[in-house]
Amino acid sequence: MPVAIITGASKGLGRALAEALAERGWDLVLDARTPQPLQEAAEAVLSKYGVQVRALPGDVTDGTHRARLVAAARELGGVDLLVNNASALGTEPLVRLEALPLDGLRRALEVNVVAALGLVQEALPLLRQSPAGAVIDVSSDAAAEAYETWGGYGASKAALDQLSAVLGEEEPGLRVWVVDPGDMGTDLYAAAVPDDDGPRPDPASVVPAFLRLLDRRPASGRYGAPALLEQR
Ligand SMILES: NC(=O)c1ccc[n+]([C@@H]2O[C@H](COP(=O)([O-])OP(=O)(O)OC[C@H]3O[C@@H](n4cnc5c(N)ncnc54)[C@H](OP(=O)(O)O)[C@@H]3O)[C@@H](O)[C@H]2O)c1
Repeated sequence: MPVAIITGASKGLGRALAEALAERGWDLVLDARTPQPLQEAAEAVLSKYGVQVRALPGDVTDGTHRARLVAAARELGGVDLLVNNASALGTEPLVRLEALPLDGLRRALEVNVVAALGLVQEALPLLRQSPAGAVIDVSSDAAAEAYETWGGYGASKAALDQLSAVLGEEEPGLRVWVVDPGDMGTDLYAAAVPDDDGPRPDPASVVPAFLRLLDRRPASGRYGAPALLEQR
């Protein structure tokens, strides 16, 4: 069975993606910082689909934790897919750049960029051995558009986009996809903009876009979930 590592898999998009991959028979290594919701997510997947699941609580910025995630995947057979999904906003709620705490910006860069590359580096030897190795880096339209208050987070996602683009060139044997999932009604969005309580899509509704990438294996590059969902 193929093996995926998904960071930030206790809720939101990461959890929805874990469920969808498990339904397809993938074995999973799941991560989040808070143990209980992570354990609940892992047990839900296990009881529904009976795949092998390793739930390892920890922070993606911790190199020892990243090594443990990859070691757990190795025990399951390797790494066929790495999903860098865990993310930090840098400040909650978001604020204009004039007030952005520099430590918040450092945190966003550490989680969204440095840790993502660290996990890629750790997993690369196993990804290269996979017959269909792939990396999915979860980005945002804030990486490409200038929205007030989204500057620090957007800058970190823009950096992630560029790392992914270069990785795609350097690793022609892999697929490296950056995915902008579009707005979703999750805790991350609520923390970013607490006053904006308008309806937003459920993360499960964008998961088919990710599955489409895995099924069709288009060239490495940046993809928007809405456009992927429109494709026949
Ligand atoms: N929601 C949107 O509208 C939206 C739009 C565009 C892009 N995105 C992107 O979509 C991805 C998923 O976001 P979401 O909205 O699904 O967020 P979410 O529901 O808040 O889930 C975030 C997950 O990441 C984990 N996490 C956060 N920091 C972590 C860390 N340092 N180490 C390990 N795990 C960590 C969280 O658990 P713990 O807190 O317990 O660690 C949780 O499992 C992110 O990359 C986000 O930037 C979201």
